[in-house]
Amino acid sequence: MYRNGVLPSGEPITALVAGDVPIVGTQFSCESCHGRSGMGAAEGDYVVPSVAAQFLFAESPQPARPAYDKDSLAKLLREGVTPSGRVLSPQLMPRYQLADADVDTLLAYLETLSPGDSPGVNDSTIRFAVIVTDEPDTAERDAVVAVVRRFAEDINRQTRNDGERWDRGYTPESKLPTVFREWAIDEWVLSGAPSTWRGQKARASPRCTSASCHRSNPGSMKSSRASGKS
Ligand code: HEC
Repeated sequence: MYRNGVLPSGEPITALVAGDVPIVGTQFSCESCHGRSGMGAAEGDYVVPSVAAQFLFAESPQPARPAYDKDSLAKLLREGVTPSGRVLSPQLMPRYQLADADVDTLLAYLETLSPGDSPGVNDSTIRFAVIVTDEPDTAERDAVVAVVRRFAEDINRQTRNDGERWDRGYTPESKLPTVFREWAIDEWVLSGAPSTWRGQKARASPRCTSASCHRSNPGSMKSSRASGKS
């Protein structure tokens, strides 16, 4: 339902936008606006809020509303009214025609969205690993890794001041500070027989968020902060 706009029955979800324009869920799935992760997005002045259960079922300071429960979520989806009584823009958020059982199914799915931090992400950094093998052609390998590092440097250069930028538009949400994280690239070099690679990768990718634990395994792992601060 969330990803493809299809009901458990196999029929498309139906909804109205802008008050009276009928649509089917396959045209506008929840995912197409709220994202695969359920974390929402900001597009110019518009903010698409997060719908991951951990955020919906908690009080929100901005825009202020109490936590959702199952009934208030059903009301929001059908009528566009939040638990604080705010009516969402009918142009932005469709009004869905959903049976109670379908709301239950959707809710169970929202529980699975972004339930914790992704591996490699902490408050300041997003770590990516480029996985290469220690084959003799180091020039080719280094070229591949260099492109990825350069890309991360560009991203960091573009976003380096964004953490200080509070005002991104007219709505109250867009006046909140945004957390920007620096990208860091790790190089994981797998060695030995291919049959051992899976084990080497598993050792190298624990759910850890500190830089040190990424440096310890496997054999030769180079880590760099792709710094764009210069
Ligand atoms: C066309 C884009 C779009 C689609 C499709 C869409 N949403 Fe939304 N949704 C929004 C926007 C934008 C808002 C905020 C509107 C506002 O603040 O006026 C919103 C608000 C919400 C909220 C309120 C969140 C809060 O914190 O109060 C929930 C819950 C929600 N959507 C769930 C869903 C689900 C579940 C689906 C699929 C069945 C869905 N949305 C499909 C754009 C969309």
